[in-house]
Amino acid sequence: MEKLLITGPTSLKGEVEISGAKNAAVAILPATLLIDGVCTIKNLPNISDVKISCEILEALGAKITWIDKNSITVDSRHITTTQAPLNLTSKFRASYYIIGAMLGRMGKVQVAMPGGCQLGARPIDQHVKGFEALGAEVSIEKGQINASAKKLTGNSVYMDIVSVGATINIMLSSVLAEGTTIIDNAAKEPHIVDVANFLNTMGADIRGAGTDIIKINGVEKLNGNATYCVVPDQIEAGTFMLAAVASKGDILIKNCITKHLESITAKIIEVGGNVEDYGDSIRVWNNERPKHATIKTLPYPGFPTDLQPQMGVVLSLADGTSIIDESIWDSRFQYTDELNKMGSKINAQGSRAFFEGVPQLEGAPVYSTDLRAGAALIIAGIVANGETQIYNLEHIDRGYENIEEKFRKLGANIKRVNE
Ligand code: UD1
Repeated sequence: MEKLLITGPTSLKGEVEISGAKNAAVAILPATLLIDGVCTIKNLPNISDVKISCEILEALGAKITWIDKNSITVDSRHITTTQAPLNLTSKFRASYYIIGAMLGRMGKVQVAMPGGCQLGARPIDQHVKGFEALGAEVSIEKGQINASAKKLTGNSVYMDIVSVGATINIMLSSVLAEGTTIIDNAAKEPHIVDVANFLNTMGADIRGAGTDIIKINGVEKLNGNATYCVVPDQIEAGTFMLAAVASKGDILIKNCITKHLESITAKIIEVGGNVEDYGDSIRVWNNERPKHATIKTLPYPGFPTDLQPQMGVVLSLADGTSIIDESIWDSRFQYTDELNKMGSKINAQGSRAFFEGVPQLEGAPVYSTDLRAGAALIIAGIVANGETQIYNLEHIDRGYENIEEKFRKLGANIKRVNE
């Protein structure tokens, strides 16, 4: 079993390069199934969710050629089956994009109910609502989703809740449908814009991505024959920004889009951190103990739930009592039990957690309960006194490329060992 060993405390200093966005990559890869041709994708993060996505595409008949560790070509001209491998699709949440893409391309698909981080109930009713509005029939039996459509026809779909996954999935299923689809109350996250940009580069006609109304004019075919570069990862950039604040460090975060980071920047300034914004890079530094704050997670452009645990580390060290309200996921405070093993004083009650700030954390053995919890525990280990051991690394490897190497370059004493 692998674990991370971190010895702290360290003040992180230096530069870090941000990889391509996980949440964009895991949607763009299924989107290649819509292309009756060959495309090239660059700046893919080298993470296990991307590797599994590629394996699923190959099992469906696509041919993937790795150009280097972050670039591939995908040839989706010959899709050979509509049965996605259940063992792979059950492994992660974003496998639900296979449904939208395969419905669009083949009019039929069978996949496993998606797995992924246990953040609470993860229904897909809004995805199904969208597919049905376009004319598909969807049934869920014994953990398998079966979707089929004789023909997909554009329609208006109002999302009852703002859902990233449902917005992208309806986009995928409507790109090749006949007529126009309008998604109302759409999510606006940067990766939604990125998936729309990818599809448009391949020949789709999608307008309004990044606003709450997206209009998709169906086209007959996506030809591909183009190269696309995945957007930088907003959440990875935010993770390093918050690591700079927690560790009283000074980090220049390169290859990011600072416009995507505004909600994080605002909160960092509120807790006493300093930020210099250069548009495609951002310097974050902090000399003082963080001040307390109140945070509520919200859909973009609000404060992202995927940075809530990392912010939790900052607030567990703050001067005074802070509150986090988690409005997206029911069970996103599991990491607080692990942080409390390191000396933090967090009291999580339902969707709200109270952080009574402590001046110092102490190293301890802890378990990564999900992907972003794992990132938070790494930051906690770096700022804590003594040795921290982090277990369940498979969560972290799903979403962060080379994370220990990136932190090591910033001065962290961190290594991966096999027990
Ligand atoms: C995506 C991200 C995830 C992030 C989340 C919120 C990917 C691969 N994952 O997840 O990292 O934490 O956005 O920013 O991009 N919901 C329903 N019915 C549905 C769909 C969602 O009730 O059909 C609810 C969910 O339970 C949740 C909320 O809507 O409470 C938001 O979920 P959604 O935006 O769909 O998250 P994901 O796409 O799964």
